[in-house]
Order: sequence, then structure tokens, then C-alpha cells
Amino acid sequence: MSNQSILVIRPARTISGSVRLPGDKSISHRYAMLGAIAEGTTRLQNFSTGADCASSLGCLKTLGVGIEREGNSVVIHGRGPNLQPPGAPLDCGNSGSTMRMLSGILAGQPFSSELTGDTSLSRRPMARIISPLRMMGAQITSAQNDRPPLMISGGNLKAIDYQMPVASAQVKSSLLFAALFAAGETCIEEPVRTRDHGELALRAFGAEVTVNNKQVRIRGPQKLRALEATIPGDISSAAFFLCAAALFPQSQLTISGLGLNPTRSYLLDLLAGIGLRISVTELEEKHGELVGTVQAQGGTLRGATIASPHTEMLIDEIPVLAAIAPYTAQGIEIRDAKELRVKESDRLAAIATNLRAMGAQVDERPDGLRIPGNQLLHGAELDSFGDHRIAMAFAIAGLRAQGDTAIRGADSAVISYPEFFETLDMLRQR
Ligand code: S3P
Repeated sequence: MSNQSILVIRPARTISGSVRLPGDKSISHRYAMLGAIAEGTTRLQNFSTGADCASSLGCLKTLGVGIEREGNSVVIHGRGPNLQPPGAPLDCGNSGSTMRMLSGILAGQPFSSELTGDTSLSRRPMARIISPLRMMGAQITSAQNDRPPLMISGGNLKAIDYQMPVASAQVKSSLLFAALFAAGETCIEEPVRTRDHGELALRAFGAEVTVNNKQVRIRGPQKLRALEATIPGDISSAAFFLCAAALFPQSQLTISGLGLNPTRSYLLDLLAGIGLRISVTELEEKHGELVGTVQAQGGTLRGATIASPHTEMLIDEIPVLAAIAPYTAQGIEIRDAKELRVKESDRLAAIATNLRAMGAQVDERPDGLRIPGNQLLHGAELDSFGDHRIAMAFAIAGLRAQGDTAIRGADSAVISYPEFFETLDMLRQR
């Protein structure tokens, strides 16, 4: 992402309004990939507007999948299990989800493909998928230290029993997707339960998947059938506005059509625990995913300690929780979060650098942060470090700072939420 655009955030008086958010990024990737290998035409409404999910669609097109997109509606003409050998490298852009999950499908295809990414993605660890996909029979080579680009020659997979060393939903989904092409029953066990959109999406596309606590079993080969679905709003995008609402006692925020999958919604428990008043209505289930309307009203903010297994459940929300931490009464401590060092940026370092630039005291640890409460922050010139969630998190921190906050590389928000700054502007009362 370019680091040049500078966006200025002015302090707000409060947050108020009602919104409906673009579709969940995790679900959009999975529905697109499974739609591509299903039989029939998949129609998706409220597909994620982020550049990451567009990267997935782009790769699928290069693999011969017919895709039409009009606004937030996407139509995918499923090819069944056989994709077409790509005529060019598959450009995953900034998207770790695209590279890791698509690798699972490519491991099952009897041809060679190359997966590439931008500078940030090219620094991210891929051993976590390379090693189990090799155990299943795929041939994979990479750049040094298991970094992208990846060359995958697939086909003839066998089922495996695998204990994942790292808690990662991307890895879990990648292996479940590969298992669709493998003869026999694959069993995957995660160290900590992570988001289950892969398991639910497979079922929505007609596959049989058995889940027992941290173990997931799937038998291959299995065929998928097309799906028609509206994708729930992205709770990780909602997190920015909920945290913004938490900063002001008078705030009133309603978010409808929001994804509330229990493996993602711990955010609401945490925010309620620290003082945001939250109610959930119109709860329903769609293709296994919970969806509802969340209403939030500001209160006074206490502090919190976030540790495993909650850290994993809040993995994408930690930047914004850390960004509001100085404004809480007791501060926020984040533990067991070393995975944040290998996201789109080193998020622990990025958070500490930006909070300090705003005058906050922060204790940065190898696997976490301790951010004391009751601190007064001032506006400053900050960097997004090319990371969408850092850009958006510090836009929220700036709402209660003294003076203006400038964010370099704010345009990186397009990765998950291109409309973010516009919606923030609408909700922000001056
Ligand atoms: C995701 C899982 C998480 C998360 C990412 C999306 C997914 O990554 O950070 O934004 O859709 O499965 P890891 O699986 O690497 O923890």
C-alpha cells in the first residue's frame, strides 16, 4: 500500500447514528472460494467491498472461474472441483487469507500455480500451511524462510491427522479445503478455538463437517453445491465504530445486519464488560451464521485484561481496543498476542509507536502490551505502517485527542473497508 496519503482526524463531541456494514471479509473470501469449486451458480449479496476480497475474486478469475460483480453483489459460476491451470501468477495483493486459503484448494488441483503478494504479504510466514499441505501430498516451494511467493503443484492428496501448532483460522480453513480433495477422513485439531466460518461455509455449500470442541473432521472427496446468501456485516469493521461510541458517554449507535458468530462476538462481551451499554435484537441464523442488530450507548470506561483464549477471539480488534485503552479508567493489558507481530504489519510495534507519538505511556512486551488508563492524548502525525487496521484504529484514537491527528497512509483502509472514513464522518458529531 502507498504510504503517502495523509488524512486528518479532528476531535469529536460524540458518536451517533445508524449503519449497516459491508459484508464480513472472512465469510466473503470463503464463500467466493467455495462457490468457485461448487456445482452451479452462487449468488452473494453484501459481498465485502475490501481490496482483500477483490484479490480472492481476481485469483479465482485467473483460475478460469466466471465471476460477475455489480456493486456488492457477486455471481460466481462454479466450475465444480476442477479449476483451470492459471496462465499467470495469482496475485494475492495484501491478503494473507487469499494466499493461505486458496493454497488449500490449489493443493488439490493437478497443475502448478504460483501465488504472489505485495511487500507486506511477502514478509508473512507460510510454513504454517506449507508443512501440513506437504504432508497431504502437495509439492510446494517458497522463497527463503517459507515466505511468498509460493509454487504449488497439487493433486492426489491424502487425508491427515494434524495438530495445528499455531491458532489460525486461515490455516484451519486451508486444510479443510484441501481435505475436500483428499481420499479419507482428515482430522484437524487447533490449540485454541478460532473463528469457524470455514466449517459453517462448507456446510452451507452442502459438505459434511463434524466439529467436536477443538477438533474438526471432514471426509474427502466431497462435492459442493452452489449457495445464495447475503453476507452479514463485518464485526471487525463494526469494532471501530463501537470503540468510537465507547469513548463518549452520550453516544448512541445502531448497527443492523451485523455478523454475530460466537467465535467473533466476544468483542461485545468485552466492551460491555468495560462499560459500553449494549443490546442485541433481531437475532437470526443465516447459513449457520448468526446475524443481528446491535445498539450501543456510551458509559464510563473501566479497564480490562485480554489473554488467551480471548486474545485469539479478538485478534483483529486488538489494534482498536489498544487505541482506546488510554481513555479507559484502568487501562488495558493484552497478553498472548505474539501473532500480532506477523499480521499486515508488526501490530504491537505499530500500536506502541503511534500511542507514544500521541503522548501515551505504553509498555511493549514480546507478546503483548500494557497501556495504562486515564491518560490525556494529543494529536500527532502517525503512520498506518501500510496496515488497514492500524490506520482505522488511530482514526478512532484521534477522536478524543487534544488537537488534530494526521494519519499517513490512511488509504490502506481500502484493504478491508474502503468506506470507513466516510461512515466515520457521518457518525461523528462535532
Ligand atoms: C482470518 C483469520 C485471522 C485474522 C484475519 C482473517 C480468517 O488470521 O487475523 O484477518 O478469515 O480466517 P489468522 O488465521 O492468521 O489468525
